[in-house]
Amino acid sequence: MITVKKILITGGAGFIGSHVVRRFVNNYPQYEIVNLDKLTYAGNLANLTDIENKPNYRFVKEDITDAQAIDELFKTENFDAVIHLAAESHVDRSISDPTAFVMTNVIGTVNLLNAARAYWKGSYDQKRFYHVSTDEVYGALGDEGMFTETTAYDPHSPYSASKASSDHFVRAYHDTYGMDCVISNCSNNYGSHHFPEKLIPLAINNIKNNKPVPVYGKGENVRDWLWVEDHARAIDVIFHNSKAGDTYNIGGHNEWKNIDLINLLCSIMDEKLGREKGESAKLITYVTDRAGHDLRYAIDSTKLQEQLDWVPSLQFEEGLAKTVDWYLQNEDWLTNVTSGNYQSYYEQQYSHK
Ligand SMILES: NC(=O)c1ccc[n+]([C@@H]2O[C@H](COP(=O)([O-])OP(=O)(O)OC[C@H]3O[C@@H](n4cnc5c(N)ncnc54)[C@H](O)[C@@H]3O)[C@@H](O)[C@H]2O)c1
Repeated sequence: MITVKKILITGGAGFIGSHVVRRFVNNYPQYEIVNLDKLTYAGNLANLTDIENKPNYRFVKEDITDAQAIDELFKTENFDAVIHLAAESHVDRSISDPTAFVMTNVIGTVNLLNAARAYWKGSYDQKRFYHVSTDEVYGALGDEGMFTETTAYDPHSPYSASKASSDHFVRAYHDTYGMDCVISNCSNNYGSHHFPEKLIPLAINNIKNNKPVPVYGKGENVRDWLWVEDHARAIDVIFHNSKAGDTYNIGGHNEWKNIDLINLLCSIMDEKLGREKGESAKLITYVTDRAGHDLRYAIDSTKLQEQLDWVPSLQFEEGLAKTVDWYLQNEDWLTNVTSGNYQSYYEQQYSHK
């Protein structure tokens, strides 16, 4: 098991990153956690108000594409480990601006690898570079089969191509320089603090406001959904216990066609909002399918279950109801995000520090 003193977590103001930061700050008071984030539209420090004053937590506003700034940070901070989540993460945005995805997801990752390699100087005992990736690097499945850790990469969108490229660089730094690198590839996450451009929070917000709920194509695409806190727990387990150079798939064994998921969400929302059964489903609106839309993803996470004893903790229906409750109880968070006000939180909170 790896033991460290100081961890750099990148992208900690985003959806999954904020859950990872919260888990590490709360569960490991003996670790110093530095959260580095550029605060793009997807970064929201209000995701972390519950832990922002803890003594083992600090925030640094920085851009991972700035190699010099990243080098300087490594020189001054004595990091033992990196958990790298910072990324451009929305497939639709990658279709309209692929270059931004190359810059952050590929160049940004290589900048971090270079800085860690230069600082650790070839001595990787109790050092670790953990790269968080996606199942989308494996491409699309037909009706049968699942992605395993040995499935060949076959990315289709600029997003998945940039993540695949970054995974290859991380593996190359392990194979070429002996760096202690670990990668996990996870299926679709859902849960609290998810930016409402993604399917589930967008649908919750639109149903709540009686706005059309857009569904791509005929809603036939299948995704394997995992509760975000189960992903954060998997990262914790893999970070501490995996071998250098290892890869793990993380998934929920929980496949849903988009349209079935949206219908389930509509029925949960009818109940929570006291609407008549079937009322929310009237908002479903089919829209032109996304270009290159992968039909089906499904993750085989047997290796993680057998080797490191990790299993998802929540059934989907329970997790989805819990998620709806969170969005309905945190209207201020949703209003701040949809109005854009969340972007002034950094100035309000940190400008005097
Ligand atoms: N969301 C999913 O379902 C899912 C599934 C599997 C893997 N992943 C991976 O997990 C990671 C986190 O995903 P997410 O959904 O939380 O993403 P997100 O978009 O919610 O958060 C990304 C964070 O990275 C920050 N960031 C972006 N560019 C940056 C830069 N140049 N420098 C520093 N910070 C920058 C953003 O400000 C934001 O806080 C990503 O690497 C993604 O590929 C996501």
